[in-house]
Amino acid sequence: MNNHKIGVLASGRGSNLQSVLDNIENKKMPVEVAIVISDKADAFALERAKKAGIAQVVILRKECSDKTDFENKIDAALREASVELVVLAGFMRILSSDFVAKWKHKIINIHPALLPSFTGLDAQGQALEYGVKVAGCTVHFVDEGMDTGPIILQKVVPVLDGDTHDMLADRILVQEHIALPEAIGLWAEDKIEVCGRKVYIKK
Ligand code: GRF
Repeated sequence: MNNHKIGVLASGRGSNLQSVLDNIENKKMPVEVAIVISDKADAFALERAKKAGIAQVVILRKECSDKTDFENKIDAALREASVELVVLAGFMRILSSDFVAKWKHKIINIHPALLPSFTGLDAQGQALEYGVKVAGCTVHFVDEGMDTGPIILQKVVPVLDGDTHDMLADRILVQEHIALPEAIGLWAEDKIEVCGRKVYIKK
């Protein structure tokens, strides 16, 4: 059977991309990263893709006439690579409702908080500031809102007295690196069913 093709969008260091690549390398899932797309020319995620022999494309917002043009270029690159699932792994831009509609239930995102708490930027800092006792990460489908789509899975970590931002972020990141490949694996095995806001994992 052919591998399922995914496309990863990343703006930064790409540690989540790496966790997906490592899981594929270890043959844990019938998935192939067909393309890595970044909106930053210097994203380390591109280096990781290069090292793994994966096609990389840089699409700079400032070189596009508007957001629609930017997203059309992303869309074209994904389709050219025959991508079936778009994985946002530290992609620091909000996708328009038009783009999301074109890829309905075919875009997933990893967010470093237990949604619906602490959406948006610096979720780990927000959690620390708020004083919650548990934090974690969420893999969810992307809808037109910010970090609001149906939740596929979540992983929980404790928030400990004396935690710094980095300590908490690192503890969450360990779980992100488990959660994202796990969600992609479930998708590849056709075990994910979306009913409105709810996601059921088939046994
Ligand atoms: C992760 O914390 C992810 O949850 C968030 O952005 C960060 C990306 O990290 N969306 P990396 O680039 O995968 O290392």
